[in-house]
Amino acid sequence: MKKITIAIDGFSSCGKSTMAKDLAREIGYIYIDSGAMYRAVTLYCLRHGLFHGDEVDTDRLKTALPHIDIAFKLNPETGKPQTYLDGALVEDDIRTLAVSSKVSIVAALGFVREAMVSLQQQMGREKGIVMDGRDIGTTVFPDAELKIFVTASPEIRAQRRYDELQAKGEKGSYEEILENVKERDRIDTSRAVSPLRKADDAIELDNSHMTISEQKEWLAARFRKAAGAE
Ligand code: DC
Repeated sequence: MKKITIAIDGFSSCGKSTMAKDLAREIGYIYIDSGAMYRAVTLYCLRHGLFHGDEVDTDRLKTALPHIDIAFKLNPETGKPQTYLDGALVEDDIRTLAVSSKVSIVAALGFVREAMVSLQQQMGREKGIVMDGRDIGTTVFPDAELKIFVTASPEIRAQRRYDELQAKGEKGSYEEILENVKERDRIDTSRAVSPLRKADDAIELDNSHMTISEQKEWLAARFRKAAGAE
């Protein structure tokens, strides 16, 4: 079976990371959560006082960006990939509401996207990779052999994120999260650089009413076809 590149794009909190992670583990591919990279840069900005309200100090960020180290390492116990920022584990810190509510601002900066895209392309040089995000099928890997575009209603996505945060003992009301989901959709689809959109050759999956195992099966079948196993 040939090694391929798999691009999974879609709206926030639509479960694409879970799908992508599971698939990568099953087929022995590398998994990269590109959203985690934008989140890590956002966390860096918050920790270093680069935000002034909703504005980022772009001069300082431009200077700092080449020195910010973002890496993924597998958790030896769970086998799950975890995000590191400048050598420190930040997997939980990048998922807080504080980061979620600022990340679209950072992800809309052209110079940040350029740096992240180039890093992502390096990570995928040898194929055998599943990457999820917003612009993977359109910008990062336009030649990917398999492209999936995942959607689900904002209400269902907000409920999923709410359940996730509750499980971690984080505060945040459903209404607040729904507003955050809608606002991020608006920013992600309307930004000037690499807005979220379905690549012409991507297969669309609306998983609003699908179970995780149904999605897994659906994706595994698409993979077998794209990799030439059937
Ligand atoms: O998938 P996520 O919710 O973790 O993504 C976090 C933010 O980063 C979200 O606002 C969209 C942005 N993002 C992006 O612009 N491009 C990507 N390839 C991945 C994420």
